[in-house]
Amino acid sequence: MSDAKVKLVDESNERSTELPLVSGTLGPACIDIGTLYKDTGHFTFDPGYASTASTRSAITYIDGEQGILLYRGYPIEQLAEHSSFLEVAYLLLDGELPTADQLAVFQHDVSHHTMMHESLKNFFQGFHHDAHPMAMLAASVASLSAFYHDNLNVDDPADRKLAAIRLIAKMPTIAAACYRYSIGWPLRYPRNNLEYVERFLHMMFEVPSEPLELSPVATKALDLLFILHADHEQNASTSTVRLVGSTGANPYASIAAGITALWGPAHGGANEAVLKQLEEIGTPGNVESAVLRAKDKNDSFRLMGFGHRVYKNFDPRAQIIRKMCHAVLDELGVNDPLLEVALKLEEAALKDDYFVSHKLYPNVDFYSGIIYKALNIPTEMFTVMFAIARTAGWTANWIEQHETPGSRIGRPRQLYTGSARRDYVSAGQR
Ligand code: CMC
Repeated sequence: MSDAKVKLVDESNERSTELPLVSGTLGPACIDIGTLYKDTGHFTFDPGYASTASTRSAITYIDGEQGILLYRGYPIEQLAEHSSFLEVAYLLLDGELPTADQLAVFQHDVSHHTMMHESLKNFFQGFHHDAHPMAMLAASVASLSAFYHDNLNVDDPADRKLAAIRLIAKMPTIAAACYRYSIGWPLRYPRNNLEYVERFLHMMFEVPSEPLELSPVATKALDLLFILHADHEQNASTSTVRLVGSTGANPYASIAAGITALWGPAHGGANEAVLKQLEEIGTPGNVESAVLRAKDKNDSFRLMGFGHRVYKNFDPRAQIIRKMCHAVLDELGVNDPLLEVALKLEEAALKDDYFVSHKLYPNVDFYSGIIYKALNIPTEMFTVMFAIARTAGWTANWIEQHETPGSRIGRPRQLYTGSARRDYVSAGQR
C-alpha cells in the first residue's frame, strides 16, 4: 500500500480528514473512507455503487473503457480459445491454471458429486408444472442447505472447497431436472463418464426411447458460453452472494440468493428478455420503430441486450460470442429469422446517435439467447444456463470472502428521506 492520501475538507463545519488512497494491481486507486464518518460525521451516498468498490478481490478484473476482461490475470479471449469450462472453474477457485493431473482430479471430483439426493426429487412434485425454471432452481439450491448444512464448517477450507465442488457438480443436474419436470419427462441421472457439458445436455435431452446424438458443435458452443459467463467481478448477483455470505450463511443459501439476483432482466434475465423482445419485434421491418421507442424518454422500453454498467466501448464477451453465433448457426444449418432481426437491430443501434453517445453496445446477452435457441434450449432456461456457469464465480467469491482476514458483515448505511420524529395519534383522532 502506498502512503498517498486524499484530503477532504468539509467547509460546512470546518472539519477535514485525510483518507488513505489504496491501490490494487490494476484499475483505479480507491479512497478508503472507513474513517470518514468518525472524522467528519458524514456518510457517502452512491446509489447503484457507481463509484464504490465493495471489496478487495484477486479473481476477476474488468477495464470497461478498454473492453478488457481477465480471469485471474488471463484474458478472456485466450481462455475462450484454449480452455474448457471446468479448467476455468478450477482457475477461478484456485487462482492458478491446473496441471494435467490437477485437472483430472478436479474433473473426477466434480463428476462424483453430480447426483441429487433422491429426496430432492420429491421437491419438484410440489411445483406447479409451469413454474419458471429459475424459481425451481433457486428453491432447489437453497434446499441443498437442508442436506449439507449440519456437517459443514464454513471456517474449514476443505469444507468450503467441497461445497464449491458440490455446487458446480449439482447445478447442471438440478437445472436439467427443472426443465424435464416442466415438460413432464422423467428425470435423468448424470452419466459420470461424460464431460461436464455433454453430461448436462444428456440430462436435458435424452429420452428413454431412443439414443441421443450430440453435435460436437453444440457441446463446444455451450462450453464456450459457460467460460464467458463464469465470472464478472462484483456484479449484482456476486455482490448478493457476498452480502449473504458476510452474515456467515452457508454457501447453498448464499448461492441461492445469487440465483434470485441473477433472475432480473437488468442482469442475467436479459438473455431471456432479448429473445422475447426479438420475437415481439418479429421482422426486420419493425426494427426502426423499436429503436425509436428505446430512445423515447417518455417510454420505459429499453433494447434488451444493449448497454452495460461497466463496459463503455465494447463487451469483449459479446465480440467472442458474436463470431461464434454465426459459426454455430452455419454449422447446425439453422436458418433463424430472428437472427435477421437481431442483426438489423445491432446495425441500427450501432450507428444511431443516441446509442453511440450513450455508449450502448450489444452485451453478452444479446447473442447468447440466439445460440441457446439454436441449441434447442427453451427460452425460459436461458437464465438457468447463465446460473450454471456463474456458479464457478459465485463460489470462488464466496471462498475468497471467507479466506480474507478481517471480513465484516456487509451493512450499508442510508440517506433517510422519511418523516422526522412525530408522536403517535390514536385511530379516532387521525
Ligand atoms: N436501451 C435504451 N436506453 C438505454 C439502455 C437500453 N438498453 N440502457 C441504458 N440506456 C440509457 C438510459 O435510459 C440512460 O439514459 P439517460 O442518461 O439519457 O437517462 C442511460 O442509457 C444510462 O442508463 P442507466 O440505466 O443509468 O445505466 P446503468 O449502468 O445503470 O444500467 C444496464 C446498465 C445493463 C442495466 C442497462 O444498460 C440496461 O437496462 N440494459 C438492458 C438490459 C441488459 O441487457 N442487461 C444485461 C447486462 S449484461 C449481462 C449481465 O451483467 O448480467
